Amino acid sequence: MLVIGIESSAHTFGVGIVDGERIIANEKSSYNVGTWGMIPSKVAEFHISNARATLERAVERAGIDLEEIEGVGYTMGPGIGPCLQVGELTAKTIAAKLNIDIVPVHHGIAHIEIAKKFAKLRDPIALYVSGGNSQILKLVEKPTKHYAVLGETFDIGVGNMLDNFARSIKLNPAWGSSVAKLAEGGKYIPLPYTVKGTDFAFTGLLTSAVEKIGKADPKDIAFSLQETAFSMLCEATERSLLLTNSRELCVCGGVAQSKRLKEMLSDVAKENGARFGYAPDEFNADNGAMIAYAAEKLIEKGISVPVKKCGIEQKYRIDRGLVW
Ligand code: FE2
Repeated sequence: MLVIGIESSAHTFGVGIVDGERIIANEKSSYNVGTWGMIPSKVAEFHISNARATLERAVERAGIDLEEIEGVGYTMGPGIGPCLQVGELTAKTIAAKLNIDIVPVHHGIAHIEIAKKFAKLRDPIALYVSGGNSQILKLVEKPTKHYAVLGETFDIGVGNMLDNFARSIKLNPAWGSSVAKLAEGGKYIPLPYTVKGTDFAFTGLLTSAVEKIGKADPKDIAFSLQETAFSMLCEATERSLLLTNSRELCVCGGVAQSKRLKEMLSDVAKENGARFGYAPDEFNADNGAMIAYAAEKLIEKGISVPVKKCGIEQKYRIDRGLVW
């Protein structure tokens, strides 16, 4: 089945096309976040200006005609309202023009499912880590099939925390990957560590690291911040594995592009006899292919929504997201 997916929850406008298990296009246009972050109206304007060209590139890359598409999915949420609306409108236009099924997709569920596909995992514990989200999840059957949140951040997402630190220490681009680069060769200095069972919090750690700017070697602060944050995620994930007796683990979302985090999680999995996997970086960064993939699975299960009832939800909880 040929299905197209539109992603626009944050700085990336992505269009992906799948044909069964094959991803045949994954095109994206990304707003330059620079050192100032995202101004919702500006990012939405960027998406509006780039939607058509990105769509055309994806169709060309897939080597198909748009008319051959049989279903369309888009990110319903969570995300930035004005940005989500651009994706929703694009998807509704395609659905109306082609008279095909449309399905709203939860962004986080798409991240997990594409990781499961690449890692060939059936029923893993999923650590979902991005700018706005940090959660430990598992698919459960009761009372209805849904992703249950086993643990999550009490305050901000780990990616947001790393970006915030990058801005404070004036890195450009101000992203987690710049913090990782700065951390190379750093030494450990103690920073606050907050894990409560399977939940965790990052703002105390961030405040303490920012206070150390100008008083300690930037390399050491970056190294210690990253090691502390990732250790917290690993401890909570390991506890979730043990409590659920799970034998599979995956990591997904933007921060899953971190080599160090994957190294640490791989050790956790090894020590607990669990298989560990993840998607290639291209599919951990926001992308349209994961939305197309999730939409295809939903449509195949007979789940679609009338165009008139399709909307967006900025704070769409993952435990309410459509699963198959
Ligand atoms: Fe994402």
